[in-house]
Amino acid sequence: MDTIIEQITGDEIHNRNIMEEASRILQNGGLVAFPTETVYGLGGNALDSNASTKIYAAKGRPSDNPLIVHIADIKSLEDIVEDVPESARKLAGAFWPGPLTMIMKKKACVPKETTGGLDTVAVRMPSHPVAARLIMTSGIYIAAPSANISGRPSPTRARHVIEDLNGRIDMIIADDTVDIGLESTIVDLSEGVPTILRPGCITLKMLEDVLGKVEIDKAAAAGASAADNIVARAPGMKYRHYAPKAQLTIVEGEPEHVINTVNRLVSEKLAEGFKVGVMTTDENISSYLNGEIKSLGTRSDEETIARNLFDVLRYFDGYGADYIYSEGFEDSGVGQAVMNRLIKAAGHRIIRV
Ligand code: TXA
Ligand code: MG
Repeated sequence: MDTIIEQITGDEIHNRNIMEEASRILQNGGLVAFPTETVYGLGGNALDSNASTKIYAAKGRPSDNPLIVHIADIKSLEDIVEDVPESARKLAGAFWPGPLTMIMKKKACVPKETTGGLDTVAVRMPSHPVAARLIMTSGIYIAAPSANISGRPSPTRARHVIEDLNGRIDMIIADDTVDIGLESTIVDLSEGVPTILRPGCITLKMLEDVLGKVEIDKAAAAGASAADNIVARAPGMKYRHYAPKAQLTIVEGEPEHVINTVNRLVSEKLAEGFKVGVMTTDENISSYLNGEIKSLGTRSDEETIARNLFDVLRYFDGYGADYIYSEGFEDSGVGQAVMNRLIKAAGHRIIRV
């Protein structure tokens, strides 16, 4: 399949033409990758079971892993959700449009193909202008998982989407203004106490400030290990995810101990003839001696670390790293979302020194 790749520019008419072309593709059951404020999405008509089936095929994604439905105004909730809960209205008021996904009981018009066979549907109203305009111009509720091949790091730059999906979908809208770099926070409002199934940049504290008590699903908490035998409530969280090709290990502890340990491990692997990457921060970068060393940004700026994480993981894929050693991060605020992704990428391989 030939994939149309269009770059958003400063030119209004050019951009409007792109939106109209993308809308036609969506209306005809095709697939379009587009930027959102979190990561790129791979969009299709959420109410068309064939379009959802195509999304799974293009990503190589297991079909029991449900998609997020993207809407452009709060009224649309009534079309796809059964009995919109009060908690959803409060959270929408506080955080939509933005990087928050809510899970609620679905209406019959949402096909099971879109929800991976579940009776609930995940809904998000993105704030990115291209995403919002695409939903409005097409008049379609857009089902969109992250626009990566299943199991690869989520795409935060247009070139990541092109790497993974060129030739597999109808169109890619390139616009490198994906700002957050980690997927949305997912909160389950379908039963009992609101529960975070996937941490993101809308933090536990921010949700609690609006709703009062909010829980975090054990499988989503950074410390949860595969060995704990916890069944994730978000089906997607059970798959090995965000995986770089290299074996990634997180090294945690006092900075001095971390640096010494990483330097030793890197030397050992280099001596055995492997290619080795180090993921660090501006504060520590000058202390590492060998290997391919990449900073995620300043430790005090969690937003920048979040924005760079997937790009650096993909960089190491391109570099051909066999092993990557990464520093750990604070398990609170946005750091909690960073650690959640990092631990998954590492397959829970953590050394505490
Ligand atoms: O920021 C984001 O959320 C991005 C952009 C494109 O909006 N999308 C995204 O989609 O990250 P995806 O498909 O990569 O992740 C969706 C996650 C999966 O872990 C899936 O299992 C979970 O949401 N999910 C979707 N519907 C669900 C449901 N009804 N119940 C429980 N989990 C659900
Ligand atoms: Mg994904």
